Amino acid sequence: MTTDRDVVVRDADYLRIIIHGTTAFELLRTGLEFDLFEILESSGGMDLAKVAAAIGTGEQPARVLLLGLTSLRLLEKRGDRYVNGDLVRRKLLKSSPRFLGPLVDMQARVINASMGDLAASVRAGANVGLRHLTGPGTTLYERLTAHPELQEVFYANMGDASRNAFDQILDRYDFSGARRVVDIGGGDGTNSVKLALRHPHLEVTVFDQESVTRLAAGRIEDPGLRRRIRFQAGDLFTDPLPEGADTILFFHIFEIWSLERNTELLRKCHAALPDGGTCLVYNFVSDDEGTGSMSAGLLSPYFLTLASGEGMVYSPRDMEQALLAAGFSRVERYQDMGFSHALVVGHK
Ligand SMILES: C[S@@+](CC[C@H](N)C(=O)[O-])C[C@H]1O[C@@H](n2cnc3c(N)ncnc32)[C@H](O)[C@@H]1O
Repeated sequence: MTTDRDVVVRDADYLRIIIHGTTAFELLRTGLEFDLFEILESSGGMDLAKVAAAIGTGEQPARVLLLGLTSLRLLEKRGDRYVNGDLVRRKLLKSSPRFLGPLVDMQARVINASMGDLAASVRAGANVGLRHLTGPGTTLYERLTAHPELQEVFYANMGDASRNAFDQILDRYDFSGARRVVDIGGGDGTNSVKLALRHPHLEVTVFDQESVTRLAAGRIEDPGLRRRIRFQAGDLFTDPLPEGADTILFFHIFEIWSLERNTELLRKCHAALPDGGTCLVYNFVSDDEGTGSMSAGLLSPYFLTLASGEGMVYSPRDMEQALLAAGFSRVERYQDMGFSHALVVGHK
């Protein structure tokens, strides 16, 4: 079934987009860099000469850019005027309901250079692509601590994705029985802040690497929130988890590690919880059959090639099995959460 929103392409063009993927990506990114979509939106559309003048380039390079973006159906041509297509209006304007600029930035500045090492990473079963980033450790998260400007790019995108995705949990999961929450690998605190704002009875501790907890703590100004959100620096694998939690958030962590390491981590969470405690595992998911979604298929190589060398976008069934193997007595699955996400809750 197709809808008004589907972009229909011939199979030869579909293959072209894959083979010329770097070019297609750079056309889109360059459009963003030159604020072209914003300029076209505020002007109501422009002809070639006006676009070239507005973005400060010659007409020939502007023509190359406009041709490329129009062939990709991001722009449309009405008479002599280029205007934004529907997809640009929905996703590529800063005022769009779901602006994808932070994701494009993350791809361009953190991920893309490593993707040429996918074959080597598949062969080695390791994140060979990490060689493009200097710094400590063997994961992207550790290396980013040596690059504050890239760490900003990472959390701008991660926080943006979490901000959008987490609303669904807040609408569907009942936190009324929870009192003390630990957000492990809580990143810039986006989820913890949203949770604490929605549920004033909760106390939350964000547990993450030292430089990340510093970044997260620096973002909270509200004194009320500061009293209810604490930060504890530590290593997930080698340090004890914060004590006293009845609920653990395991958000966008499961994707990073192998199933064995996830089970080990979940066992540690299980041990830290009282009877009746819960662990919420929430992240991007593939389907149980291993055939999609496209988002799962395109995100997984990032975990192998760059992030850790061992993770991928798993299925909800993988998440359930890991929770049960870690000792949780009962699991509950919340599917169809949107944003290709699922929540699986383990009950102790
Ligand atoms: C993909 S981000 C998820 C952030 C947050 N949970 C969210 O959903 O937005 C993974 C987080 O795990 C943290 N992390 C990775 N390895 C870690 C380790 N060994 N110890 C502590 N934190 C770690 C990273 O610093 C990063 O903030």
